[in-house]
Amino acid sequence: MKQQKLHLKAPDNWVNDPNGFIYYKGYYHLFYQYFPYGPRWGTMHWGHAVSRDLVNWEHKGLALYPSRREDQNGCFSGSAIEVDGRMYLAYTGVRYEVVNPEDPHTCLNEQFESAQLMISSEDGFDFDNENGKEVIIPPIMDAELGGRTHTRDPKIWRGKDAWYLVLGSTVNEQYGELLFYRSEDLHTWTYMDKAWKGPDYGWMWECPDYFETEGGKVLLVSPMKLLKNDEKEKNQSICFPVEFDEETCRMEIPDEYTFIDYGLDLYAPQTTVDAEGRRVMEAWLRMPEVTEEGWIGMFCSPRVVERRGSHIYFRMHPNIRGAYSKEISRGQLSSGDGYMAVFDLEDGESVDIGGYVISRKGDHICTDRSRVYPGFEGAHLLSETPELKEGFHLEVLVDKNLIEVYANDGEYVVSSVVYGITDEIACSHEGREVRIYTTEETEK
Ligand code: FRU
Repeated sequence: MKQQKLHLKAPDNWVNDPNGFIYYKGYYHLFYQYFPYGPRWGTMHWGHAVSRDLVNWEHKGLALYPSRREDQNGCFSGSAIEVDGRMYLAYTGVRYEVVNPEDPHTCLNEQFESAQLMISSEDGFDFDNENGKEVIIPPIMDAELGGRTHTRDPKIWRGKDAWYLVLGSTVNEQYGELLFYRSEDLHTWTYMDKAWKGPDYGWMWECPDYFETEGGKVLLVSPMKLLKNDEKEKNQSICFPVEFDEETCRMEIPDEYTFIDYGLDLYAPQTTVDAEGRRVMEAWLRMPEVTEEGWIGMFCSPRVVERRGSHIYFRMHPNIRGAYSKEISRGQLSSGDGYMAVFDLEDGESVDIGGYVISRKGDHICTDRSRVYPGFEGAHLLSETPELKEGFHLEVLVDKNLIEVYANDGEYVVSSVVYGITDEIACSHEGREVRIYTTEETEK
């Protein structure tokens, strides 16, 4: 099956959200939303990739496919957990009430129903799609509680003495909310409480993820139509430092949030705990166009999530930094192999990486992809971090279709989808040092 290094991408056709991310029996498993019949969104399946080190990946084909009434039109996003050596996946099953007469892979006017399902596996590779699925939370029929259509993306975790699950939902399709459930046996789930922030935070909250770190508790969520600016992609992923009480499932969410990434493309992140106990995140990078190889959709490099005070850091995973171990000179660069560029910027300086321009304006890092994002104008091209407080040290991962700018080891990150970058690197300041690292040659 197909091998990929460093940046995991669609093996072919279409991918979106990472699902069921877990370190289990010596492998990182990353499942993902996958449409196997063309490079576009459609009836959702779960694709599956595994890695020993978060660097070298192998695609394993399909893990989940629609097989019963509740998921006949799609296996939407969800998460994984290990219990007594078994891997359990919780996900959203979708059933269309009216199929689009022009396209069997979409429904007409959002007429569908969502239920939460579970399936398990002894080894993380084989799933009994025909007989192994169980509905754990049926469609919500009480509009006071949440949406019958728009309730999805279960994230499960083990608390002190029970399992917990959070769902993304909507209050009357006006604002996003979270629904918390609790279970003692993984099969029977009791609704406990909800949390929401009102109309300024998007109309539907997708892909919630909640976890505790040494520095405090964190909520990641992907609200739909968060941004009101029509020129930008409206759906963005954000994070909050939160408080959560397991006994009652009461969550306190502050008013202020930060973006998980200050580019415009990262969405639907999901975290797990890595082999060393770090909280590690993967996310989908939305792409506007199918690549020349015929695939669309990819994942960010894994990031370590840390909270200090109220700030949430997204640091480059040490395995990724470790993989770029060979320093080379600029002249040795070759297209498509990927590299890491490391430099500091003074105010007013910029570095042009193959057509993608990174500059410092005051205490902000700005990026401009006008020359490597054909067919787009205006706000889709420009990104800017908030004010940096910890310096202006940048580590930039460059891949054929993705540039990730880590500022001050994850104080902020800007990731941008690109098309057609070149091998040239140019600095506005002649003496500016840019160090370039590639991976050691892998055996042919
Ligand atoms: C987020 C999302 C999820 C859903 C899935 C469907 O990108 O819309 O809420 O489960 O994608 O593919």
